[in-house]
Amino acid sequence: MIVCPTVSKDAIRTHYDLATLFYRLLWGRHIHHGLWDAAESPRRAQLRLTETMARLAAVEPGQRVLDVGCGMGGSSIHLARAMNCHVTGITVSRMQRVWAECASRWHGAAAQTEFRRVDAEIVSFPAAAFDLVWSIECTEHLFDKPRFFQRAAEWIKPGGRVAICAWLAGDTPQQGDHAQQVYDVCEGFLCPSLGTRADYVQWMQDAGLVVEGVHDWTSRVSQTWEICLRRIRRSGVRWLALPFGRDMTCFLERFETILRAYNTGAMQYGCFIARSTKTR
Ligand SMILES: C[S@@+](CC[C@H](N)C(=O)[O-])C[C@H]1O[C@@H](n2cnc3c(N)ncnc32)[C@H](O)[C@@H]1O
Repeated sequence: MIVCPTVSKDAIRTHYDLATLFYRLLWGRHIHHGLWDAAESPRRAQLRLTETMARLAAVEPGQRVLDVGCGMGGSSIHLARAMNCHVTGITVSRMQRVWAECASRWHGAAAQTEFRRVDAEIVSFPAAAFDLVWSIECTEHLFDKPRFFQRAAEWIKPGGRVAICAWLAGDTPQQGDHAQQVYDVCEGFLCPSLGTRADYVQWMQDAGLVVEGVHDWTSRVSQTWEICLRRIRRSGVRWLALPFGRDMTCFLERFETILRAYNTGAMQYGCFIARSTKTR
């Protein structure tokens, strides 16, 4: 695991309160990578990532889902509309909670979704409240990742699943400047740490979960950053970000760093599916 001690929870919260509009303008409704098979549009690739994770997690109609780090509600609304799930979305950002609620209403999913502004590291839910704990690109921002998996394992019903997509530190931090590249990504994108693939598997197993699948999607997601870089260069987003301070400009500057980190193997992108071992 690579740690970046300068990141604070307040900075993460402020980032999403301020940057959600930039994400929407630059990328779309989902604040996560696209998953490409060929030359699909970014929109289609973003949806493919959500759909693929839902298939791997064997989501069934009517399930109760906790969407941890729900962003603008992209996954929550998709799972509610396409899979008829009942979804609780949580985010640290007040702006995102309001955005997700409005989007859900707009897409006719309000009756099946609920959005709360709470910290996933503090919030409590009754034991066995959900069939699935789902989280795309949020665990990077958590300070105590092993503890999160312990809690998530309690929140799912016997036989329930935890499905995670996460940015990962690569397996070769000792190689060249790999550790520095990951550190620079953590600093720019406000991740207190990035775990390796092995770390995630260990944390899930320590929480009593059985890991059913580990998928390395690095080569299928990395073009996200080529597209975002092109869009930044063509648009005035860099100028628009200036009044928002150093964190925001550093964030945009590190788009090149993350692309390089994927290309050199300093970083990977993984999808993990794990299941509760408790019996029904
Ligand atoms: C990269 S965005 C991903 C959003 C969403 N999962 C998606 O794919 O569109 C990261 C999300 O994690 C949320 N987040 C970060 N730290 C959190 C915490 N401690 N508790 C709850 N949400 C958190 C942010 O507010 C943001 O919604």
